[in-house]
Amino acid sequence: METIFSGIQPTGNVTLGNYIGAMKQFVPLQNDYECYFCIVDQHAITVYQDRLELRKNIKSLAALYLSVGLDPEKATIFVQSEVPAHAQAAWMMQCIAYIGELERMTQFKDKSKGKEAVSAGLLTYPPLMAADILLYKTNLVPVGEDQKQHIELTRNLAERFNNKYNDIFTIPEPMIPKVGARIMSLQEPTKKMSKSDPNQKSFITLLDSEKQIEKKIKSAVTDSEGIVKFDVENKPGVSNLLAIYSILENVSITSLEEKYQGKGYGEFKGDLAEVVKNALLPIQERYYNLIDSKELDDILDQGADKANKVAIKMIKKMEKAMGLGRVKK
Ligand code: TYM
Repeated sequence: METIFSGIQPTGNVTLGNYIGAMKQFVPLQNDYECYFCIVDQHAITVYQDRLELRKNIKSLAALYLSVGLDPEKATIFVQSEVPAHAQAAWMMQCIAYIGELERMTQFKDKSKGKEAVSAGLLTYPPLMAADILLYKTNLVPVGEDQKQHIELTRNLAERFNNKYNDIFTIPEPMIPKVGARIMSLQEPTKKMSKSDPNQKSFITLLDSEKQIEKKIKSAVTDSEGIVKFDVENKPGVSNLLAIYSILENVSITSLEEKYQGKGYGEFKGDLAEVVKNALLPIQERYYNLIDSKELDDILDQGADKANKVAIKMIKKMEKAMGLGRVKK
């Protein structure tokens, strides 16, 4: 059986972009693949996190993984820092990564732009991500478009290691959805929807109330043409809303264009708000039942046990290949 690995950072609210680009894809995969879904808290600390907030966000993301439909009987759900192999492997990957290739990563450039003090972790974040993926002999990595570059680097690092030391790593492939790989900001539809955007109206979180959802969709930026048509170049706002609608309702964009022909944005947005609420309300109901349960901790304990067992085997292989430690007699 092929293996899937993916991760989400527990930094604040999980957005509709995270859901559509990543989480929603995870659910059907758990039936056909050996799956690992990680809460990547060590990635989160590459920028400052309040410790109590981070702790809260870790549990919250775990509850969301389950609420969207991941089944701990089928998929392994765990917290990155509870599996020390990730940091161990990350060090080895850092030693084969070149500073130049890390400096070329778009995410590093974006996050460090104009800042005086940039953590070394922000630069060496991709080797940690490579470690996450490579430890589990991952074949496929379901992610949104923005992570594609990091997966390409992971492939390069794995090939470099295999050639230089020993052929131990599986070379992973990205798995990027055809529609919805890049959900855009509701306020600036040429920018990616991001949980760190200071403008709250630019994103919908999985835990937004009905009122918030309605308001945010109503105030989403469109254009003055009044025609519901998919045209990313000339109508980025409307196209983004069409993509969200199409994915959440599982209907084609063409059929939506037909449905709203001759109708204005008001009706389209009103219906879209209903679609988003229908998708999110059941998730929220499960979330609030789970968030303070002991069940959640048990699932994360079991997930960490399983991940530790698998990951440590790869650490041994990596150390042996690089000549670390001693050969025990
Ligand atoms: P993160 O936490 O920023 O995002 C989690 C997932 O959500 C996707 N995503 C989006 N998809 C569509 N539209 C958007 N606007 C949008 N915003 C985010 C991301 O592509 C991602 O799939 N480095 C990763 C976390 C990570 C990881 C890994 C992923 C660490 N180790 C190993 C896969 C495998 C990140 O920061 O994702």
